[in-house]
Order: sequence, then structure tokens, then C-alpha cells
Amino acid sequence: MTRPPAPPAPPAPPAPDAPSFGARDPREPAFWDERFDKGFTPWDLGGVPARLRAFAGELHGLPTVLIPGCGSAYELAFLCQAGWNATAIDFSPAAVAAARRAVGPQWQDRVVQADFFQYQPAAPLDLIYERAFLCALPRAMWPQVAARWAELLPSGALLAGYFFFDNNAKGPPFGIAREQLEALLTPHFRCVADEAVLDSLPVFEGRERWMAWRRL
Ligand SMILES: C[S@@+](CC[C@H](N)C(=O)[O-])C[C@H]1O[C@@H](n2cnc3c(N)ncnc32)[C@H](O)[C@@H]1O
Repeated sequence: MTRPPAPPAPPAPPAPDAPSFGARDPREPAFWDERFDKGFTPWDLGGVPARLRAFAGELHGLPTVLIPGCGSAYELAFLCQAGWNATAIDFSPAAVAAARRAVGPQWQDRVVQADFFQYQPAAPLDLIYERAFLCALPRAMWPQVAARWAELLPSGALLAGYFFFDNNAKGPPFGIAREQLEALLTPHFRCVADEAVLDSLPVFEGRERWMAWRRL
């Protein structure tokens, strides 16, 4: 006797660590608000990455630094405690709230709710710190990001941090190809550091590098 065909399998339940989202456009603050509000922040390291700690010890002077798209901004308190004139900005109210909680009362006023493309620093910048901001934005926006980095940094200043390399179709994070990063940055910057990263989160592991680029 032949057995009746098995009933179709029920749809797989969503992975417990991936809630469903209404906001789909990472160019909008609502996209990031929803992810912070639902506690889905796989890019969030929960502390200061090792290479930034080392870098802070290597730099002379007390630079003025901007952290665009800061998320929880753990780096802000660390850099302020080192004496740096650091400001962290994010356009998502939920990210700003998370950052103010993370940095505590002492540095809360260094967290500013602002859009990177409009923000005007109070003082000339020595450094922009990059982590998971470029890769948070659709590839079509990257020329605008690079142009704004170049606009905000005077000659000799640094763009330093973590860059995510991949050719994945879906994001964020949207990975970049090395040639594409060079095409974006070499009109305005010269690469002065390019190193493997040893403390990556799973979402970036094996595909991120610490880089520093000096403004021409
Ligand atoms: C993937 S998260 C990274 C957060 C943080 N840099 C980190 O390393 O944890 C990207 C952040 O960029 C912010 N963002 C995206 N576009 C922005 C814009 N135009 N201006 C300011 N912040 C922006 C988002 O709100 C989000 O908090």
C-alpha cells in the first residue's frame, strides 16, 4: 500500500534573534530606531575595539574627533577620558538614547542627535572615527559619505577605523570591495594603515580591516 504524501511542512518560525521589522530603509532614522527598540543590534560590540584603544595611545596631542553614526558610542567615553575633544552624532533618537545611557552622565552632552550630512562641528576636526557607518548605508550613498568625510577633514587630518569588505547583495551591513574603497577615497585621502582585525563580531568576522586614511 502506498503511503499518502506528507503534508507540506509548516513555514519555519523566524529565527529567535531576528525579529520582524516594519522599517526597511536604512537611510531613515526609523529603520535604526526600530532595531535599537527591539534590541536587534548585531553590530554592537558592547565596548571599545582593541585597535582603537591602541591607536589612542599612538596619537600625539589631544585630537578633536567626530564619531558619525555612533550607535551606542562606547568609544566616546573612552576617548573623552583620554582627554580627546570627542563628539558622537547619530540621527536615530533611539541610538542617541542608547549612547547617553552607555556613556553615562559625565559625557552625555557629547552625544548629539544630528544627521551626518548636515552636522557642522563646533571646531575643526583632526579625526573622524569610522565603525559600521559606511556599511550601514546603501552603496548608492557612498560617494556622498566620502565627499562629506573629505569636506569635514582639513588637509593632514585622519579618517580612521573599521571598514567592512564583502560583496553581499543584502544589507546592512553592505560590504565594499577594496578597489571600490580606493576609488572612493584616493581622490581625497592617502592610505596610511591597513591591518587585520582580531576582535571582530560574527557579523564582520574575517571581513573587516582597521584602516587609517590621511586627508591630502
Ligand atoms: C550599524 S550602526 C553602527 C553604530 C556604531 N557606529 C557602532 O559601531 O556600533 C549605524 C548607525 O548609523 C546611524 N546613521 C545612519 N545614517 C545616519 C546619518 N545620516 N546621520 C547620523 N547617523 C546615521 C544609525 O542611526 C545607526 O545608529
